[in-house]
Amino acid sequence: MYYPEELVEEVRTRNDIVDVVGQYVRLTKRGSTYFGLCPFHNEKTGSFSVTPGKQMYYCFGCHAGGNVITFLMEYENYTFPEALKVLAERAGIVLPQREATKEERREADLRSRLLEINKEAGKYFYYQMRRDREQKAYRYLTGRGLSDETIRRFGLGFSNPYENDLYLYLRKKGYHDDILKETGLVKIEERGAHDKFWNRVMFPIMDVNSRIIGFGGRVMGQGEPKYLNSPETRIFDKGRNLYGLNVARSSREPNILICEGYMDTIALHQAGFTNAAACLGTAMTQGQASLLKRYTSQIILTYDSDAAGTKAALRAIPILKEAGMTVKVLNLKPYKDPDEFIKNLGADAFRERIGEATGSFQFEIAQIYARYDMKDPESKTDFHRAVAGRLCGFSSELERSNYMESVCEEYHIPLTSMKQMVIEEARRTGVSGSQTPGVRPVREKKKEKESPIRISQKLLLTWLIESPELYHKIAEIITPKDFTDELCSRVAGMVWEQLESGLLNPAGIVNYFINDADEYKEVAALFNTKLRGGMTKEEQEKAFAETVLRVKKHSLDEAGRRAADVESLQEIIKQQAALKDLHISFD
Ligand code: UTP
Ligand code: MN
Repeated sequence: MYYPEELVEEVRTRNDIVDVVGQYVRLTKRGSTYFGLCPFHNEKTGSFSVTPGKQMYYCFGCHAGGNVITFLMEYENYTFPEALKVLAERAGIVLPQREATKEERREADLRSRLLEINKEAGKYFYYQMRRDREQKAYRYLTGRGLSDETIRRFGLGFSNPYENDLYLYLRKKGYHDDILKETGLVKIEERGAHDKFWNRVMFPIMDVNSRIIGFGGRVMGQGEPKYLNSPETRIFDKGRNLYGLNVARSSREPNILICEGYMDTIALHQAGFTNAAACLGTAMTQGQASLLKRYTSQIILTYDSDAAGTKAALRAIPILKEAGMTVKVLNLKPYKDPDEFIKNLGADAFRERIGEATGSFQFEIAQIYARYDMKDPESKTDFHRAVAGRLCGFSSELERSNYMESVCEEYHIPLTSMKQMVIEEARRTGVSGSQTPGVRPVREKKKEKESPIRISQKLLLTWLIESPELYHKIAEIITPKDFTDELCSRVAGMVWEQLESGLLNPAGIVNYFINDADEYKEVAALFNTKLRGGMTKEEQEKAFAETVLRVKKHSLDEAGRRAADVESLQEIIKQQAALKDLHISFD
């Protein structure tokens, strides 16, 4: 949807960034800026800033930044229209309803019909279970300890052993083959139509809004495959949904439990842990992690206690942490999965295990430990080195030393030797961010180092944003064309225009880049370059003049290199000479 610029600006300006961000992040005022713990990366020191004057946020640690609209987009995972809608409502602004295009209407219509069919199928399976004379599915589920209430709550059902019963039912409801084909519930071939699910207990899979988007079906007893699942369809994206999250999202617990399967989720809910959800046999994806981040900042992994479950946990940890959540791992031993655990030891014991869940770091170290032989000095040293390598992953000094202390105590490693080893490891590998255990610390893809001239151009932009009164000191000297960096120049054009009219509005500039997260972050960075603090007025004056000169000189040098004729070259040389006499004072 295209919203007019003025409307977007109105919505933005009517939502003060400190108020909005303050709903999510605890902010403390320092001077004219608020600081807090960054919600976009893991940190213990507050590098996250919100500046009311600029109406922008910026994190000096992870470089997330933008205006109030991008904040909601990032924090709540909203699209631009979604964020705008929420902010408009918050400010009591009515957004115009827009006309959908024909193509969009067709797609929306198709999706809603697929949802409708899934709902029909869900009801069908549900009643089949009740109608079945042998009560096979019902007996199977109650045999596994599920109560009537649980069966009802999760809408569990039964696909009967007839070949195309569901197909005929849906046809009778008026759905044609071409749409039925898209549901993944039936296969339509020349010889006829078959139901995909056949003689199985059925688990409807719902999205966060409790709409049925697919099904899982389990054989009753032994058989292959144990579970059969709906294929991905227009409405079923496996990497962006979690089983049970429709309920778990509104539980009052501060965390969400992630388990592997349908039965684990259901058993947990039945035992009172309504904050459980499952990845459904697939590895945790970024899509799932950012979905979870909407509802919680702490995940407790309750994967199966076998090797596969451990591996899946090790894979999920960095993905969840990357999305900005802390992760703990629950120990289910001696049982295989939450379902078995609860059956054997009950809900209270499980709650205890939640309390004892291991932090993801300790968990990763324990997994590394298991691979080394502590009786062999060489292997033992390798283990220590691996620990040191992991410790290098913490960017915060304090965090690192806290973890170092606890790991040294647990594994009886002398603290001073470990400190030394961490320094060696950091030197050897080049300190980098979080790494997956077992994998050699990969050097992080080095961000292209920023050229000094670009830093000067950024510095100049930040300076002007923070002290717009400096503009008239340099308006005669510098124009947006002098910014040789493409983005800096584009942004400078807008800043100049605003300064010219006296209506400086950096957060408004961010709006123009809102469709590209890399770009608006970059723009936020242009306005939030760290200016050296604690300078006297004279020092500031000098630093500012030097920056202006550097930018101008570089621009003239570049122009000189490109000059096509003698006249323009002479003009450039004249200007270069004039720079020597330039004087900028703050008064
Ligand atoms: P498990 O094999 O651990 O099943 O697979 P489970 O949850 O313990 O099931 P029960 O207790 O034996 O009934 C975990 C999850 O992996 C997916 C399912 O989502 C399952 O819940 N899976 C497993 C499949 O999709 N297909 C399979 O054949 C097996
Ligand atoms: Mn299992």
